[in-house]
Amino acid sequence: MKGLENKRVIITGAASGIGRATAQRFYEEGSTLVLVDMPSLDETELASMFPERMTYIQGNVTKSEDLAKIQAEMDKGFDVIINNAGITRDATIAKMTDEQWDQVIAVNLTAVWKLSQMAAVKLKEQGKGGSILNAASVVAHYGNFGQSNYVATKAGVIGMTKTLAKELGKAQIRVNAVAPGFIGTPMVRAMPEKVITMMEEKCPMKRIGEPEEIAAAYAFLASDDAKFISGTCLNVDGALVIG
Ligand SMILES: NC(=O)c1ccc[n+]([C@@H]2O[C@H](COP(=O)([O-])OP(=O)(O)OC[C@H]3O[C@@H](n4cnc5c(N)ncnc54)[C@H](O)[C@@H]3O)[C@@H](O)[C@H]2O)c1
Repeated sequence: MKGLENKRVIITGAASGIGRATAQRFYEEGSTLVLVDMPSLDETELASMFPERMTYIQGNVTKSEDLAKIQAEMDKGFDVIINNAGITRDATIAKMTDEQWDQVIAVNLTAVWKLSQMAAVKLKEQGKGGSILNAASVVAHYGNFGQSNYVATKAGVIGMTKTLAKELGKAQIRVNAVAPGFIGTPMVRAMPEKVITMMEEKCPMKRIGEPEEIAAAYAFLASDDAKFISGTCLNVDGALVIG
């Protein structure tokens, strides 16, 4: 896609699922990668997947010392950040603990806000525009049993995306979200067959999506082909949510 070969792209949560597929897609497009994921990770696998044009930050997006490492990479210059890292800690409202609430808010919402703020300041300073992409979810549109924390963050991300698009438009900084439907990441693929069948049945296209199909949406929105698209939330869900 247009222009991606010239872009330095930061991707959080890049070691698994959608983040990994997104890193792969941008790498194939010729982008230079800055990948961020949790300290527990064995980074040799990523190093072999991306033998060049890749910097890896072992870091937790909720920790200020790790945000400082990301800031240091931003300061070297960048064009795109994809706030993909996300977690679930499901429980119905009566059973959800404060800890479950706080953990999900910290990763899925506060860290997205903080990284967007850091990115906005640096991109403005660079003066050549840029792109901020945020991971939402279709559940932000219709709610999901047992996920009051997660859904609140994803709806919050969509609102934040629209607001930042307005605030940063003048600087040619585009801000968009992607709302995946059911996607066959390792976590989803490990679910019981009957749950996967239920997901497939719910989807008008009668299948779950592939991580690569979300990666393609991020690649398009980050590319120069999308240079007048900002403030949108792109559903990539096989028509699960329409309207
Ligand atoms: N898979 C789906 O069906 C689906 C649907 C809608 C939205 N999403 C969203 O897409 C994003 C990616 O989902 P996925 O299914 O690929 O998840 P995943 O669990 O496979 O990958 C998430 C990655 O984020 C990393 N991560 C988690 N907390 C982190 C932290 N504090 N700091 C740094 N890295 C951290 C994890 O280590 C992991 O590598 C998430 O924001 C998720 O909410 C996924």
